[in-house]
Amino acid sequence: MRIAVIGAEGGLGGSLMTLLAGRAGVEAMPVTRKDADLADGAAVTKVVSRLRPDVVVHCAAMTAVDQCETDKDLAWQINVEGTRAVADAVRGVGARLVYVSTDYVFDGAKDGFYTPDDAPRPLNVYGVTKREGEKIALQTPGGLVIRTSWLFSWRGKSFARTVLELARKQSEIKMVNDQTGAPTYSKDLAAAILVCIEKNANGILHVANAGACTWHEYAKKVLTCKGIAGVTVTPITSNELNRPARRPKNSRLDCSAYAALAGRPLRPWDRALEEMLETL
Ligand SMILES: NC(=O)c1ccc[n+]([C@@H]2O[C@H](COP(=O)([O-])OP(=O)(O)OC[C@H]3O[C@@H](n4cnc5c(N)ncnc54)[C@H](OP(=O)(O)O)[C@@H]3O)[C@@H](O)[C@H]2O)c1
Repeated sequence: MRIAVIGAEGGLGGSLMTLLAGRAGVEAMPVTRKDADLADGAAVTKVVSRLRPDVVVHCAAMTAVDQCETDKDLAWQINVEGTRAVADAVRGVGARLVYVSTDYVFDGAKDGFYTPDDAPRPLNVYGVTKREGEKIALQTPGGLVIRTSWLFSWRGKSFARTVLELARKQSEIKMVNDQTGAPTYSKDLAAAILVCIEKNANGILHVANAGACTWHEYAKKVLTCKGIAGVTVTPITSNELNRPARRPKNSRLDCSAYAALAGRPLRPWDRALEEMLETL
C-alpha cells in the first residue's frame, strides 16, 4: 500500500513517517511544504499525481490557533483551499483521503464527551477552517476524518517544552485551569491512523489518549515526571490569559467508536506523556 503523508515534517506527520518506515507492505511517501505549498493548488495536484498513492493522510495545516485568528485569510487559504486542492488531487488519482481534524470544531458547552455525531460549533477561526476542511474531506469517496485533541510530540515546539523552559527561568508559572481535554501523543495517534486505514474506516472518528485534564494539571504532570520541584503552578482562567482566539472549555472526545474498531482504546494520556518525556 502506497501512503502519502502531507505535512510529513510536522509533529504528527513525522511520527507517522517513523511508524510507516518500518512497516512491511507499506511504501511511505513524505510530502513537505518544499514539495508542495498548500497555497499552491497546482503544486499539490502535481505531487499527488506523480506519487499515485493509494491513501493520502493530510496532516498539514496552519495550526497556530491565535495566528489563525489574526490572519484569517491565510488560515482560510491553507486550511480550507489547501484541503480542497488535496481532496481534488486525491479524487484525481482514485486514492482514499484521511483528514486530521480537531476538538476545536466544538464550542465546549456540552456537559460530557463529544461524539462524532454532535453538531460542530467552532469558537475560533482555526476551528471554522478545520470544520470546512472536514466537509471537503467527507465528500471524497471513502473519506475519513479523524478528530484529535491537544497533540504532543517530541519534535519541534510543544506544551511540555514550553513548561520546562518556563520552569528553568521562573519559580511560578501560570496555567489555564478552565479548559479540559485529552493530551494525545502523536506516536499513539499515528498507530491509530494506520489501524483506521487497514480497516477501511470512513466517516468521522474521534481518536485521543484516554482520560482528560486541564492545562494546569498537564503542566504539573510535566514537572512531576521530570522530577522538578520548587516551581509553583498557579491556576488562572482563560479570561485572565486573554488570548486572541477563544478556546472550548470542554474538549473531551468520545472515542468509543475508534476503540470498538481497534479492539482497544488508546492508553491514558499521562502514561503516554511519561514515555514521551523520557526522550526530551
Ligand atoms: N497540535 C494540536 O494540538 C492539534 C490538535 C488537534 C488536531 N490537530 C491537527 O492535527 C494535524 C497535525 O498537527 P501537528 O500538531 O502535527 O501540526 P504541526 O506540527 O504544526 O505540523 C503542521 C505541518 O503542516 C505544514 N504546513 C503548514 N502550512 C503549510 C503550507 N502552507 N503548505 C504545506 N505545508 C504546510 C507544516 O510545515 P512547516 O513545518 O514547513 O511549517 C507542518 O509540517 C493538523 O491537521 C492539526 O490541525 C492538531
